[in-house]
Amino acid sequence: MKYLLLNIFLSMHLFGQAKSTIAIGPYIQNVTNHSAVVCWATLKSNSFMIQKSGKNQIIPQYENHEMILSSLKPDTEYSYDIGGKGIPEQMGTFTTFPKEIKPFQFAVLGDTRSRHDVHSKHVGRILKNKPLFVLNTGDMVGNGLDIHHWETFFDVTKNLMQSIPYFPALGNHEKDSPYYYDFFNLPNNERYYSFSVGDALFISLDLEGIQYQTPKYLKKQNRRYFWGNHEIAYFKKQKEWLERTLNLHDDAGFIFVYFHKPLISVKKSRVEGTKMRRKFWGDIFERHGVQVVFSGHDHHYHHALSGGTHYITTAGGGASLYDIDAIQPETVKAIKTEHYILTDVNMNTAILNVIDIKGDQIDTITIDKRK
Ligand SMILES: [Fe+2]
Repeated sequence: MKYLLLNIFLSMHLFGQAKSTIAIGPYIQNVTNHSAVVCWATLKSNSFMIQKSGKNQIIPQYENHEMILSSLKPDTEYSYDIGGKGIPEQMGTFTTFPKEIKPFQFAVLGDTRSRHDVHSKHVGRILKNKPLFVLNTGDMVGNGLDIHHWETFFDVTKNLMQSIPYFPALGNHEKDSPYYYDFFNLPNNERYYSFSVGDALFISLDLEGIQYQTPKYLKKQNRRYFWGNHEIAYFKKQKEWLERTLNLHDDAGFIFVYFHKPLISVKKSRVEGTKMRRKFWGDIFERHGVQVVFSGHDHHYHHALSGGTHYITTAGGGASLYDIDAIQPETVKAIKTEHYILTDVNMNTAILNVIDIKGDQIDTITIDKRK
């Protein structure tokens, strides 16, 4: 493996101002076997002030920067230095994905939106393993429209994201926020996208939909119609894209899909909602031989098996845990615990290792390569 140094020089104009010091990041996005994006954000010199009931509230404004690096070598570690001055906070490393089929490891966690001490513990452990990348099944933050929540998220994940690419799915708590699209650089339309590593395919879906504001003047029945039309058109388009993507990658050795709200729930109050989602997506995952579907939203660990597809709810990233009160016929294991998952993708199998908050392995799932 080669080790190459990249200097990303910012203009003197940018760094000539004290306010332009990096405030968020740097962090790695959108890595492929030939490209990567280094992102960071600087604070604008003027904060925005809003007043409510005589009280002032300052809203910091960030300027997002990204350096798109192309024509890189596969499976190669690069180091970068924003500014080229050797300042440790502005430096990092990343590794491009391999072009060939070879073993690699990735981590998955979800619902990191609260109890930041739990999230921090997971981040520390994941960092020690140095996986090739990290997936988040959504609800990264408590309120996607509040910049302070993103500041906390990037603070907790700073050391991890400085060197390991992060691929999230949109959760309901992201609220379809512009901040999500400003901070992340993801493939396709950033709402739903795919990427490959060797012969493994990863697909992120958006089960939340575009967040329109329902006009107040609409009557109740029209309000339902308004939502229905917009939502159905969006999800139908996404489903067609998913079908095309799965057809195109029919030879993939492994297929992992991830999105926020699960298709199978062991939380009683949410079982009804899963039926609707399952009806819409139908047998698409099982028909295409998707081996693993990761979801979040229900704050515990749940492993279900249906038609050869493993449905894993991994939502133990920090948000307060939920009781398990509706075991389903497809349930294999359900544990109310904080956790994350480390997956080893080998030549013929993929092994999912579920790690709890104490660092103990609480479940192991072995997946065979697709025929
Ligand atoms: Fe959620």
